[in-house]
Amino acid sequence: MPDPTWNRALVTGASSGIGTVLARQLAADGTDLVVVARSEDALRELADELTSAHDVAVDVLVADLTDPGGLAAVEERLRDVAAPVDLLVNNAGFGTTGPFADQDPDTEDQEIQLNVAAVVRLTHAALPGMKARGRGGILNVSSIASFQPIPNMAVYSATKAFVTSFTEAIHEELSGSGVHVTALCPGFTRTNFVDNAGANDDATKLPDVIWMEPEPVAAAGLRAVAANRATVVPGLQYKLSTGASRVLPSAVTRRVISVASRLRGI
Ligand SMILES: NC(=O)c1ccc[n+]([C@@H]2O[C@H](COP(=O)([O-])OP(=O)(O)OC[C@H]3O[C@@H](n4cnc5c(N)ncnc54)[C@H](OP(=O)(O)O)[C@@H]3O)[C@@H](O)[C@H]2O)c1
Repeated sequence: MPDPTWNRALVTGASSGIGTVLARQLAADGTDLVVVARSEDALRELADELTSAHDVAVDVLVADLTDPGGLAAVEERLRDVAAPVDLLVNNAGFGTTGPFADQDPDTEDQEIQLNVAAVVRLTHAALPGMKARGRGGILNVSSIASFQPIPNMAVYSATKAFVTSFTEAIHEELSGSGVHVTALCPGFTRTNFVDNAGANDDATKLPDVIWMEPEPVAAAGLRAVAANRATVVPGLQYKLSTGASRVLPSAVTRRVISVASRLRGI
């Protein structure tokens, strides 16, 4: 991994998927951890695994980031100068799928709270200490869905568009400060995400080449934030497809995605 390596990382959504793998890779590199999610058993199991396998300390912080109290507890941990966090990984997130008109507004509120508002608040909590120390990293897990509007994932793709835009903006603001800021933009990755989004039947129709394992996705994110890249898209298939969507007019990509998803029944 390029320099810098991190002393202590706080990873949200560490109880499964990409977050668990990020925590494993950081621990293997000797980074102490604060692991955050709602599922206490899964976090404790991960903490036991990582402390036995590597010479690292792992703190478990059980918190629902859509709940003001849970969010405040994580903000407070990020402001703790006695045990500073030098890498914040905003990874927790979920997606809703299907026609917008059929969605539950309360679930969408939670999606916006977790994918957008928590990312902004936790970044605010972490930044002053990092700036004062002249060193730190913020890795925001966005998505390739952030690069164009996606029919039937209208709110999810909009939340991730926010994450990529926000991350790229503060990446520039913090240039030269010693604080690295990176958006990790994965494509379809084998985790619980698709199941939780209620899209498993549709996802089984996708060809194998579409899928990535969480290990290379997490590794690409950690390499990119160490190197202070503004964004990273893991996987050649996604580098090519997102490259095209960034140069084509958005009216064209929107239409292509809409037609492709109808043909596949997604
Ligand atoms: N998998 C993909 O295809 C894919 C593609 C592009 C981007 N992403 C992004 O990657 C990130 C990680 O997703 P994943 O694929 O690893 O999915 P995942 O396996 O479902 O993991 C989601 C994580 O978020 C946590 N989480 C959910 N709601 C939470 C809440 N209210 N408060 C705190 N933590 C919460 C979950 O933990 P608890 O349930 O224990 O709280 C879990 O640890 C997300 O931001 C997602 O949007 C995924």
